[in-house]
Amino acid sequence: MSIPPSALSAAADRFGTPLYVYDAAELDAALARVRSAFGGARVYYAMKANPNLAILRRLHAAGVGFECVSPGEIARAEHVGATGERLLVNGPAKSEAEYAAGGRLGATFIVDRAEEVALLPAHSRALVRVNPALQVSTHDHLATGAAGSKFGVTLEQAPAVLDALRAAGHEALGLHVHIGSAIRDAGDFTAAFGRLGDLRARTGELRVLDVGGGWGLGADLHGIAREAQATAAAFGAELWVEPGRYLVAQAGTLLTRIVGTKRTGRAFALVDAGMTELLRPMLYGAAHPVTPLWPGEASGLWDIAGPACESGDLLARDVPLPTPGRGDLIAIGEAGAYGAAMSSAYLTRSRPAEVMWEHGDWTVIRRRETPQDVWAAEVEPSGLDAGN
Ligand code: LLP
Repeated sequence: MSIPPSALSAAADRFGTPLYVYDAAELDAALARVRSAFGGARVYYAMKANPNLAILRRLHAAGVGFECVSPGEIARAEHVGATGERLLVNGPAKSEAEYAAGGRLGATFIVDRAEEVALLPAHSRALVRVNPALQVSTHDHLATGAAGSKFGVTLEQAPAVLDALRAAGHEALGLHVHIGSAIRDAGDFTAAFGRLGDLRARTGELRVLDVGGGWGLGADLHGIAREAQATAAAFGAELWVEPGRYLVAQAGTLLTRIVGTKRTGRAFALVDAGMTELLRPMLYGAAHPVTPLWPGEASGLWDIAGPACESGDLLARDVPLPTPGRGDLIAIGEAGAYGAAMSSAYLTRSRPAEVMWEHGDWTVIRRRETPQDVWAAEVEPSGLDAGN
């Protein structure tokens, strides 16, 4: 992220906090890194990481397709004009609405179990998701390729599902694998691709190998790419990838203001963002880099705590900070993926505004919600005025 600290404070003053800020140059740079590592592979952005329409439009204009896992995500893809070859419809429990929308838009379906062969719209293009049954070095909630996971068909079943697709008149493009998220050890990918490669003798040549996403920040992208390319080549297949986090995480920062401090057994910096704005620390024990935007030497270790009435509402623990004061700003980094996307209106908290930094200026890409936005879909009973 290359936004100057003075611009961050100006944004906090102008748009209020908590605030999600994105650096457009870093979004472009991340896509360039993916394309340079993966060469001619087709890129489908896993929009769950950050489905903001401004980000989707930018990626769509750059030629990227989308991987969608809900009717709402398919609607976003259609809204920005991504159909046909630019659209993947995925998910372990797709609804009728997703089959119908995917069929209407000419999407490629990722088949997650044999039963789906009969549920797809006629003459669909499809990939078969394979679970390589591997232990992966990430948080349990983020591992999708382990033997006990709900995703995909077994290595054993995969060739028969490809045959069943063909027999049902679908176009069986090939195989799909996605072993989990935030994986930094390239060896996990090597192991997974190796298990898929072992299927070559039973599947014959395939048109497409889709290796999903899951690359942790700081993972050896070129190493992962080389293994993916070698596996695709063994199938005679074109390579597809589905990065989410890698494309957007580093472009995003959550700005939050210190509301006050307190010392009990521990030292707390109380801030105006918490589990409702950034759930990852609470849900996965995720560590996001914390940068104080006020000067001074670190004077102690502080827990960064949010405003929710839950003890787990901590954004970080034991962070070295110069003595914080009310109104000081904290930047929480690597928040562009699964940050705003997983924010909630719990406690009738208004979801934060989101702004994009480009050419030295800010553009609002999502306005801050109001309490009325939060309850807009609720229906009140009539005739129940305050009894007194
Ligand atoms: N493809 C498939 C089939 C996926 O399920 C996912 C993510 C991706 C691609 C993109 O994975 P990525 O490159 O972003 O790791 N909420 C969690 C992450 C859940 C990811 C779910 N699937 C978090 O905050 O870390």
